[in-house]
Amino acid sequence: MTNFDLDQIDELLLTTKQVRFRLDLTRNVPIETVLECIQLAGGAPQGGNTQRNRWLLVDDPDKKSAIAEVYARVGRPYLQRNIEVAARQGMDPRQQRVIGSSLFLVEHMAEVPLMVIPIRLDRPVEPAAGYYGSNLPGVWSFQVALRARGLGSTWTTFHLEHEQEIAELLGIPDTVTQTALLPVAYYTGDSFSPAPRRPAEEITYLNAWRSPVRAGNE
Ligand SMILES: Cc1cc2nc3c(=O)[nH]c(=O)nc-3n(C[C@H](O)[C@H](O)[C@H](O)COP(=O)(O)O)c2cc1C
Repeated sequence: MTNFDLDQIDELLLTTKQVRFRLDLTRNVPIETVLECIQLAGGAPQGGNTQRNRWLLVDDPDKKSAIAEVYARVGRPYLQRNIEVAARQGMDPRQQRVIGSSLFLVEHMAEVPLMVIPIRLDRPVEPAAGYYGSNLPGVWSFQVALRARGLGSTWTTFHLEHEQEIAELLGIPDTVTQTALLPVAYYTGDSFSPAPRRPAEEITYLNAWRSPVRAGNE
């Protein structure tokens, strides 16, 4: 037994969604709250406990516009292609909503109050799981901590196709690696519905590939 309120924690985990339509573009995001969330994200594991993660916050309007332009240069054609495929072949409505909200973010990225770029202090090495595994768990913790404080974010990667261009804009040396770009804003409304996901038993195996696992076998 623990003292955690599992109902609340489970709800937090299930409803930390990628927020786009519901980002409040009119409200300022306090840097101290973001620093609090970065502090909490530091609790995530890192291989060898190397502490090689950094965060770059961008609230300068000109820099946000420049980043948004790069983001749209990749995101807009990618999403348009998806829309064309959906029109030709059909697509599940949930997936269509993701494309619609992703396009909304493409068009409004420059207006987000704050952009957050997680960074690792070296260049990628193989195996990729070892490299990114020391950085990305903290990004998810950051999103969860934000959500608990009324702040929404979206995990994005479109800009990474032009990582160097963004690095030059922000003075990031070429010895380090950007791993994502998160627009951050207060969200409107106060609850989110959990995203539908496949049941755990369907995607979990026991002792051998595709061998089913059932609860209650202890
Ligand atoms: C590695 C990664 C890259 C992603 N890149 C983008 C992106 O560039 N733009 C975007 O709008 N969403 C991006 N997403 C968000 C996914 O589209 C998102 O997880 C999906 O919309 C499901 O939303 P939900 O988690 O709120 O259910 C990315 C997510 C991950 C994990």
